[in-house]
Amino acid sequence: MTEIDERLEEVKAKAVVCRICELCENRTNVVFGEGNPNTPMVLVGEGPGAQEDATGRPFVGRAGQLLDQALLENGITRKHVYICNVLKCRASIIENGSVRNRPPRPQEMSACLPWLEQQLAIIKPLVIVSLGAPSANTIIHKDFRMMKERGIWYASEYAKYAIAALHPAYILRQDAETFKTARASLVADIAAARQKVLELKREAKAEQNPEPKPVEEPKLF
Ligand code: URA
Repeated sequence: MTEIDERLEEVKAKAVVCRICELCENRTNVVFGEGNPNTPMVLVGEGPGAQEDATGRPFVGRAGQLLDQALLENGITRKHVYICNVLKCRASIIENGSVRNRPPRPQEMSACLPWLEQQLAIIKPLVIVSLGAPSANTIIHKDFRMMKERGIWYASEYAKYAIAALHPAYILRQDAETFKTARASLVADIAAARQKVLELKREAKAEQNPEPKPVEEPKLF
């Protein structure tokens, strides 16, 4: 265990018993986040759905499978990155007798923000990929317009750079033709994040080796 792992575990131990907002009433599990805390790349989603709530793990449902595919197409697995959400507990609503996910409310997002802030302060990623508007509103800027602003690099208070991508659950709701382009945009945005990490690592290495000898190609993770 690295010091980063230990510090993250300490925060997790507090988060899993959190009762700051009313979402604690109906949760099965707090979905804190998981993956490699010693990573240059963190992906931040919206909040747990039914399967995440049931298992305590982020992005394990259909949206998670799509995310895994998009990562894998870029040669990235969950061992390389850290994945978490803006909300750590499921936001749900009962409609016609069945429990459905609902978007996070602003008060819930602010109540949960200290957990995400602590996670990111410990991990200190070079790059954050925000999945969906609630994440982009938190990590990048308020009133984020996903269709206009996704795929663009921003400075973030939580990482050197942040980029927003379409949320995998949104992509799954598209019809066949739109699905293809939306899925391709997710793969492309993750590819851009991968490139950005390499670029930043190259820059850091060049700064350490100011003599004009060839610099060794950095490893992505
Ligand atoms: N959607 C999210 O935003 N996060 C998850 O963990 C699962 C689905």
